[in-house]
Amino acid sequence: MKKPKKSYIPFRPVSLSNRQWPDQVITKAPIWCSVDLRDGNQALVTPMQLEEKVLLFKKLVEIGFKEIEVGFPSASETEYEILRTLIEENYIPDDVTIQVLVQARPQLIKRTFESLCGAKNVIVHFYNSTSTLQRKVVFKEEREGIIKIAAEGARLIRELSEKERAKSEMNIRYEYSPESFTGTEIDFAIEICERVLAELEASEDQKVILNLPSTVELATPNTYADQIEYFCHNLKDRKKAIISVHPHNDRGTGVAAAELALMAGADRVEGTLFGNGERTGNVDIVTLALNMYTQNIDPGLDFSNINEIKNVYEKCTKMILHERHPYAGELVFTAFSGSHQDAIRKGYEYMENSNADLWEVPYLPINPADLNREYEPVIRINSQSGKGGAAFVLHQTIGYDLPKQMHPEFGEIVKKAADNSGEELTPQRIVKLFNQEYVEIIGKYMLQNHKFYEENHNTVFEGCISEDGQERYITGRGNGPIDAFFSALNSIGLVGFEFISYQEHAISKGSNAKAISFIELKIPDNGHIFGVGIHSNINVASLLGILCAINRAINHKNNGKI
Ligand code: KIV
Ligand code: ZN
Repeated sequence: MKKPKKSYIPFRPVSLSNRQWPDQVITKAPIWCSVDLRDGNQALVTPMQLEEKVLLFKKLVEIGFKEIEVGFPSASETEYEILRTLIEENYIPDDVTIQVLVQARPQLIKRTFESLCGAKNVIVHFYNSTSTLQRKVVFKEEREGIIKIAAEGARLIRELSEKERAKSEMNIRYEYSPESFTGTEIDFAIEICERVLAELEASEDQKVILNLPSTVELATPNTYADQIEYFCHNLKDRKKAIISVHPHNDRGTGVAAAELALMAGADRVEGTLFGNGERTGNVDIVTLALNMYTQNIDPGLDFSNINEIKNVYEKCTKMILHERHPYAGELVFTAFSGSHQDAIRKGYEYMENSNADLWEVPYLPINPADLNREYEPVIRINSQSGKGGAAFVLHQTIGYDLPKQMHPEFGEIVKKAADNSGEELTPQRIVKLFNQEYVEIIGKYMLQNHKFYEENHNTVFEGCISEDGQERYITGRGNGPIDAFFSALNSIGLVGFEFISYQEHAISKGSNAKAISFIELKIPDNGHIFGVGIHSNINVASLLGILCAINRAINHKNNGKI
């Protein structure tokens, strides 16, 4: 990189001696507040219309959010009307609190109270910007001026709330955000918040939410945790406040910042589904909650049908979730790499065989089934995939259980096809490759008809085989059907093939039940090869499997592969 045109100002962390948060462990979920309908909506190219806001609101309720910031009703008529609809058309369950945002400005505060008429539980969330930079370049105000704005806003909100309480049962709580908190001198942030708590007459019974936003993420997440710990420790009336965090994600560490802030003493988190929000977004509550879930902490939010939530999110925001998005992206439970596929397959086998209660599958930190994602292909095949992957997909798709020794052979066939196409191979393509290679193979020798019978304690094979289209009648005897068939083949000069291994299983149920046999033969010029036979009679399936292996060996020799 070239030297920047103008130098940047490095972040100056708070000085915190004896910090405690690094030793803390998150053991319970915070209070969650969704700001999808406000911060999230504010960041959309096309803001949500009524229908979309209602749809997303209902989904947020279904997920389990009890606090939902529904908008900025004083900011526009649309926002105002949407809030009125949510209230008047009874979309808000009794156990859900709606939150409304307003700047600490008298006219806007009054308008906000008007918009709330008829609501049961509300949080009035007001803010003003406190950072050094905003004070210098936007507001051109000294600290006293900034405190005055917050204090007057708080006073008016308390007065209007008291009036409202006198005439209705509305349950009103307060939230104050020193906006751009992370860029604010920490002692000044504490001073202004203490003043707000006093104006609002906060008490241990009537706690006020102090929301400390990382409006723009300015530094590493540990510095945010330091600020939160310092704030919690030095705020005189800590017990009268609920400490809320509201991380944005400018440096890509919003989730880490929220987690460390919880370790540092925060009680509440504001964020959005999948991290939608201004610029690089708000903190992603889905990731945060599911991170907790993988630590056996009940997040109190239900993401057990994540695809459905993703669909509603995409419909309402018109944003497309990235394929690699934690927990919800299309590819996050997919392994292409051979060694990963192998480990996942072994993990699933281990889970099945050990009947374990604990989830222990390598490369899958969460069970996809917990998110209703169990039917998606975990293993997908491209040129990076290993030999076991193709066999796994075949098993998942049509139930064929290839013997382990056969995985390299079939894996090689699939790998070649993937290399040639340069693209992912679908399960259907893998089945087709298998069928072309083993089931529909056209070879020199084809079984026309046959019978077995017992004679002098021997099994006798008698049958007709076509050799390059010419019918030949052959017989052979042995100590079992396969042995007898081999000796019949010897009689027409097919020598040097030796039986190495055999495996079979049923492939369909009911009257049309068929069996599939996998035959491994040693071939005359060294090496070994597999054949597959499918038939309703298991003996015939084996004969077909033997011929398949022989035909493949001959084809390979003719093609110079052996
Ligand atoms: O990011 C922010 O600071 C905000 C405030 C209004 C809370 O969204
Ligand atoms: Zn925000």
